[in-house]
Amino acid sequence: MKTLSVIGTRPEAIKMAPVVRLLAATPGVESVVAVSGQHRSMLEQVLNLFHIQPEYDLSVMAQGQSLNSLSARILQGMDELLEKVQPDQVLVHGDTTTAMAAAMAAFHRHIPVVHVEAGLRTGSLTEPWPEEMNRRVIDVMADLLLAPTEKAKANLLAENLQGRIHVVGNTVIDALQWVAQRLEKDAALQERVDAGLPRIAEGKRMVLLTSHRRENHGDGLAHICDAVTELVAGGEVEVVYPVHLNPLVKDVVQQRLGHVAGVHLIAPQDYVGFVRLMQRAFFVLTDSGGVQEEAPALGKPVLLLRDVTERPSVVEAGVVKLVGTDRQRIVSAANALLHDSAAYQRMTQAAHPYGHGDASEQIVKILLAAKAV
Ligand code: UD1
Ligand code: UDP
Repeated sequence: MKTLSVIGTRPEAIKMAPVVRLLAATPGVESVVAVSGQHRSMLEQVLNLFHIQPEYDLSVMAQGQSLNSLSARILQGMDELLEKVQPDQVLVHGDTTTAMAAAMAAFHRHIPVVHVEAGLRTGSLTEPWPEEMNRRVIDVMADLLLAPTEKAKANLLAENLQGRIHVVGNTVIDALQWVAQRLEKDAALQERVDAGLPRIAEGKRMVLLTSHRRENHGDGLAHICDAVTELVAGGEVEVVYPVHLNPLVKDVVQQRLGHVAGVHLIAPQDYVGFVRLMQRAFFVLTDSGGVQEEAPALGKPVLLLRDVTERPSVVEAGVVKLVGTDRQRIVSAANALLHDSAAYQRMTQAAHPYGHGDASEQIVKILLAAKAV
C-alpha cells in the first residue's frame, strides 16, 4: 500500500506527524510525504521536531500570497507529483488551502482521498474563512472520512456524503502526548526550553495569546491588542504572544503591542516550546483551531477570540468560552478568570472529547483494513 500524505502548514504538520511516523513504521506500507511549502519556517520547525523528512516539496511559499495563486500552484504541483508517485491514496488533514487543493488534485485523477479531521463545521462560510469551505469541499471529495468526534460524524451524516466515516479521535492528542512525555522525562530539555521563554515577573500570572485568523485581520486584531493592553495595565498578568509570520498580523501586532510593558512578543515557537507555554499559562487567549483542542487537554481555560467555533465539544464541556473580539468582552472574561476562583476551577476540568492519544493507531488500522477488502 502506497500512501501520499500532503502537508502544508504548521497545524497540519503537528496533526499528521503521528500518522506519518506510524505509517512509516508499518510493514507493507510505503509512506511518501510531500510538503506543499504553503508555510516555510513554521512548517520546518515541526518537521524537524518529529524527524520527518519529506520526499517531495512543491515549494509554493511566497510572501503575502493570494489564496487563488496558492491554490493554482498546489493543483499544478500536485498533478505532476501524482503522476510521478502513483499513490494508492492521498491523505490530507483539516481545512487549509493545501489540504483542499491536494484533495482536489487527487480527485481529478481518480485517486482515493483520505480526510483526517473530517466533519468539523461552524455552519458559517465566513468563519473561519476560507477554512469552513475548504473542509466542506474536501469532505465531499473524500473516500474515507476520519472524524475526531461523534458530533463531527453527525455533521457528515447530515450532508449525505459518499465516503465511509469512522470516528477516530484527534491526532493532536497523540502529538501533544508525545511532546508532553518528552518534556516530563527529560529535565534538561525542560530547562533548556524554559530558558528560551520570556521571564515573567515574580507574583504575576502568565497569559498565553495567539491570533492569526483571516477574519480577525484589521479591526478584530486591533481590538484584541487593545484588550491585551488594558489587561496588562491591571498589573496582575503578563502576556506572551508568539506572533504568526503573516505580515498582516506581525506588522499590526508589533505596532500596537511592541512597546507595551508586560507584553512579550516572541517568534513562533517550535512545538515543544509552545506546549511548555501552554503548561505554564494561567489561561489562554486564542483564535487558533488546534490550541482549542490542546489547552483543554492540559486543563487550561481558553477564551476563544471568535464568535463561532467548529469545535463545540470543548465549549459544551465548559473549558472554552467564546468571547469574540470585542475589547470589553475579552477584558471582562479575563478578569473573571483572574478574580473568581470557582469560575476558574470550573474551566480547568481537563476535557478529553478528542480521544486519549490513539487516533493515529486507529487511522493506520482503518487504512490497512480498507486495503484488505
Ligand atoms: C494558514 C491556514 C489556516 C491555518 C494557518 C496556520 C489557509 C487558507 N489557512 O493560514 O487555516 O490556521 O495557516 O498557521 O490555508 N508566512 C511566512 N512564513 C511561514 C508562514 C506564513 O512568512 O512559515 C506568511 C507569508 O507572508 C504568507 C502569510 O504568512 O503569505 C500567510 O500564510 P498562509 O499560509 O497563506 O495563511 P495563514 O494565515 O498562515
Ligand atoms: N503552535 C506552535 N507554535 C506556536 C504557536 C502554535 O507550535 O508558536 C501550535 C499549536 O500548539 C497548535 C498549532 O500550532 O498545535 C496551531 O496552529 P495555528 O494556530 O497556526 O493553526 P490552526 O490550528 O488555527 O489552524
